[in-house]
Amino acid sequence: MNEMQGLFKIAVLPGDGIGPEVTAEAVKVLKLVEEITGPRFRFHSGLIGGTALDATAVPLPAETISICNNATAILLGAVGGPQWDSKRREIRPEQGLLQLRQRMGLYVNLRPAKVLDSLIGLSALKPERVRGTDLLIVRELMGGIYFGNPRGIFAKNGGRVGINTEIYREHEVERVAHRAFQLARLRRRKVTSVDKANVLETSRLWRDVVTRIGRSYADVELEHLYIDNCAMKLIDEPARFDVILTSNMFGDILSDEAASLTGSIGLLPSASLGERTALYEPVHGSAPDIAGRNRANPVASIASAALMLRYSCRMENAAAAIEAAIEKVLKRGARTPDMQGKKRAVTTSRMGDLIAAETQKLLKSSKFRAA
Ligand code: IPM
Ligand code: MG
Repeated sequence: MNEMQGLFKIAVLPGDGIGPEVTAEAVKVLKLVEEITGPRFRFHSGLIGGTALDATAVPLPAETISICNNATAILLGAVGGPQWDSKRREIRPEQGLLQLRQRMGLYVNLRPAKVLDSLIGLSALKPERVRGTDLLIVRELMGGIYFGNPRGIFAKNGGRVGINTEIYREHEVERVAHRAFQLARLRRRKVTSVDKANVLETSRLWRDVVTRIGRSYADVELEHLYIDNCAMKLIDEPARFDVILTSNMFGDILSDEAASLTGSIGLLPSASLGERTALYEPVHGSAPDIAGRNRANPVASIASAALMLRYSCRMENAAAAIEAAIEKVLKRGARTPDMQGKKRAVTTSRMGDLIAAETQKLLKSSKFRAA
């Protein structure tokens, strides 16, 4: 069997910290989806990050690369933890993820952030300010200062210098810009491109290229903001944004800021797309302080699995059912400790069970039954 016949090979890379716990809940939901809908999933697990370092001395073992090369999609948990923090850069857990993005050619990272009415009280901002916020960050993922050379820490004149280099090639900006405009067409048709063109050459090039590409999407409104101004507007008027298109580094920062608008970083999923395969992972990290205690929020991981169904498996119905199930369960008041407030919290696995059961119910209802 292959994809055409409804078999999807999914690489599952749980990683470190809370990664394994939250990924298990996403797999649980996918298995239930499989029971009801036609397509089948075959899961192959691999090591990445600190756990891979401990077992194989590298953060991205060859076997994991080969599992991912053979997969329709990759579902990842999280990488990193204090026990590996003192390692030099090449052998830090984060390198596993960064190398995987490079190896798989994942150049665009989508990070949707939506403020749910039922969770509005959890936002760092006042309800009247965040209400209606529904934005999508489109982050360039394979270039910029994360990967430019020269880089390193060098001895010079009796002291040390640290060097990183931001590089953007025209085609790197073009391809991510196209994706942003295409995605905006499925939403409210507005792209905010974010840069620092008043200071940086890479940003001036970015702005030029985005403006040019924007001309072929005349139905999409394009505006440019400087990163500092955008960071402020995201707090002042978050609901004004639709698609935010930006570089690797700025996107990293803005996506954490956007997460705090929604009430908990434990809610936000992400998709990293290239031409061949795609990677789905929560925006949150490995949260070592709560790892292994059944306290982590599995929503971001389950929502990442929904994105996987949408973008890699073309199972829009199932994706929408999972998203609706998440909203319903949250609306009914289920809260993991990160979003607890005054209510009694549920565990990671309980939250997963609730969402799985609701997804199943919705998939059986006429609204979501596969057409
Ligand atoms: C993220 C993370 C990663 C990044 C780290 C873990 C390398 O912060 O996905 O936002 O900076 O891209
Ligand atoms: Mg980040």
